[in-house]
Amino acid sequence: MTPRKTRILTGITTSGTPHLGNYVGAIRPAVAASRAADVESFYFLADLHALIKVQEPARVQRSTLEIAAAWLACGLDPDKVAFYRQSDIPEITELTWLLTCVAGKGILNRAHAYKAAVDRNLADGEDADAGINAGLFMYPVLMSADILLFNAHKVPVGRDQVQHIEMARDFGQRFNHLYGEAVGKAFFVLPEAAIEEQVATLPGLDGRKMSKSYDNTIPLFAPRAQLQKLIYSIVTDSRAPGEPKDADASNVFQLYRAFADDAEAAAIREAFAAGIGWGDAKRRLFERIDAEVAPLRERYEALMAAPEAIEKLLRDGAARVRERDAKPLLAELRAAVGLVDLGRPLAGHASDVAGVDALQRSPDDPPQFKQYRDSDGLFYFKLVDGGGDLLLQSVGYASPRDAGQAIARLKQSGYSGSEPEVRGDGVAAADVQRAIDVLVRADADKAAQKTR
Ligand code: TRP
Repeated sequence: MTPRKTRILTGITTSGTPHLGNYVGAIRPAVAASRAADVESFYFLADLHALIKVQEPARVQRSTLEIAAAWLACGLDPDKVAFYRQSDIPEITELTWLLTCVAGKGILNRAHAYKAAVDRNLADGEDADAGINAGLFMYPVLMSADILLFNAHKVPVGRDQVQHIEMARDFGQRFNHLYGEAVGKAFFVLPEAAIEEQVATLPGLDGRKMSKSYDNTIPLFAPRAQLQKLIYSIVTDSRAPGEPKDADASNVFQLYRAFADDAEAAAIREAFAAGIGWGDAKRRLFERIDAEVAPLRERYEALMAAPEAIEKLLRDGAARVRERDAKPLLAELRAAVGLVDLGRPLAGHASDVAGVDALQRSPDDPPQFKQYRDSDGLFYFKLVDGGGDLLLQSVGYASPRDAGQAIARLKQSGYSGSEPEVRGDGVAAADVQRAIDVLVRADADKAAQKTR
């Protein structure tokens, strides 16, 4: 078997206009990583997450378009990577519920974003949960579903999201433990956060982390003149030109660092020590950022002018991953938790042969006799085919020995159809006989090997 490629997955909440922090912290590293040969990448627009904060439909739509255009403008190749919109994948919301039912509420209580909202309320003398919607509380579970549904190995995120990845691991592991161990199966890969060490978070105009919620962002595709104006408005200390400046304490330097190579960064660090004026430093910062962004900006504007093309591309992207990944996994998970056809024996029940167990089997596997004791205290067997489907269901026997003898009789004398056992739905007598023949032959082969 060839080893699976590393799966990288990341999302951006569609709650604003893409800014330099999104670009440096998520889009740029993700696009670069998507070009590596040994990876399979998933990038998506987290529009369901957006609803937690944005309750203006026009803004949700606008932001989704802007962010999609931004990723494409930054070089994302939708033929090479999975690029989709979260809300186009109903399996994500379905998985969210399955995970909700294994997620510890106590863990969610400790999620940073929720806790920060509670702390703000308490500081204001309000009720702890005042004005907090349950979406904010459930945020980490929805995000876990995003990640676990596609069995992502690596999740490029900002440092503030690391806790969410840890939660995804926790929920995935709980689910695996609860539903997978009995059938020897790990449904979910446990993801890891991937943080670009250099530039995990970018300072905003006021020096705090660049973030929509602080209203201190620099839009990624601000026109050149506006970009310049914003950069000149970055807050600095009052050190005059000629006074040495500590690069490491400066948000101007940190921003520059995010766009510069090592040599450029070293040069500007020297200029800081030599007392470069803030105006000069900002001019150099502006020119450096604009050099990288200008060609992207041009592509962005062209894309924004053709929203139908982006719409189609997103829909195609979602359809592809739903068929290939989301639907098959959800079918498996539904069976694993017991959301199965009522005609099937119950998973985890003593008579579990066609439930979860069926998932372990392939039609190429040999048929099997399965013996078990049911809750009525009697002893039963089933004959199942390679795919785990029921061929023959026995009546209840008083002892395991009796059930075993009934199996032995079938193997010796063949299946006549007059036995008390009941055939599975749509199963012909010849199907049963054929399966028995396979088993008898296998027994004979085994016996022959032993005597050799
Ligand atoms: N919470 C992420 C952010 O704010 C966005 C996001 C949603 C995400 N689902 C995700 C990121 C899954 C990575 C993987 O940046």
